[in-house]
Amino acid sequence: MDKPVVTNRALFADALAGLRADPKRMNPKWFYDHAGSALFERITELPEYYPTRTELSILRREVDTLSTCIPEGAALVELGSGASTKTRVLLDAIRGLRAYVPIDVSGDFLRDVASDLDRAYPGLRVAPLVGDFLGDLDLPTEIRSLPKIAFFPGSTIGNLEPAEALNLLRRVRAWPEVSAFILGLDLVKEPGILKRAYDDSAGVTAAFNHNLLLRLNREAGGTFDVDTFGHEARWNAEFERIEMHLVSKKTQEVSLGGFSIQFSKGESIHTENSHKYNQASIARAAAEAGWAVDVFLTDERRLFGVAILRPF
Ligand code: SAH
Ligand code: AVI
Repeated sequence: MDKPVVTNRALFADALAGLRADPKRMNPKWFYDHAGSALFERITELPEYYPTRTELSILRREVDTLSTCIPEGAALVELGSGASTKTRVLLDAIRGLRAYVPIDVSGDFLRDVASDLDRAYPGLRVAPLVGDFLGDLDLPTEIRSLPKIAFFPGSTIGNLEPAEALNLLRRVRAWPEVSAFILGLDLVKEPGILKRAYDDSAGVTAAFNHNLLLRLNREAGGTFDVDTFGHEARWNAEFERIEMHLVSKKTQEVSLGGFSIQFSKGESIHTENSHKYNQASIARAAAEAGWAVDVFLTDERRLFGVAILRPF
């Protein structure tokens, strides 16, 4: 048998720990290699996946409100920037923005997006940062003294455990000269709408989930047969979150970098949580981290919220 090839030691070590745990789990940040980021972009266009288009409509409608919280000469720092599609609404409308710092783990994707933005906004300093926004962020020295606006759209905060989300809110609060935090939040709603958004009829979300196993095969010496794992989206009412799982269709053994992982039939790998918020729950978390909700914007159906937080 060929020797398993591990090219990504961090992914391998984290995946091995998660797949040896009970229940088995993976950190959702590993979804996003170039293929995963491209699949996420396809998700954002699905009829069932309402969050992206709803948040975009709120940002477009309220761009003047958002502009007023961004001081002249500020730096916009985006956490989990992906394709930066929503950011363009802000970049088009805000005058006098000095720098844009998109932060993302999906390095190749980030570099492609950043060079497009560089061309599209010649007067703006675009300074991409490849890295984990939960880790130590080394913000570029040239933006240290500028007023900073943190932008965290997409409800990516929902993919964090509540304790991680609180920690992130606290760390951003501690940035020097931070003047606002614009935060996108998917809101608690009827579970049927949520389940359809995470288990679409075209199977794109299933492909996004399966890409995690393909990535383990490509980069961590995995031997997963992806067709033997089914995609499932479950609503967890107690924690108000959608969970994504990959469920083994049979009893089987898989190898990861030469280490054996056993699956029983029906056993799942819990691959993602997507916590849903409401105005009260985000206000509580924000207050614990030293932020007040200054403005809370939503759409007519109250599907999605955009909170403007201010330091207190
Ligand atoms: N902000 C965009 C993309 C959201 S998708 C939007 O609203 O449409 C989530 C993005 O966060 C992906 O691009 C992913 O690569 C990135 N991401 C996920 N976990 C991350 C982490 N821990 N650190 C940095 N980026 C992360
Ligand atoms: C990036 N994040 C906010 C998405 C979400 O809705 O939780 C990721 C995603 N997972 C499945 N579909 C989209």
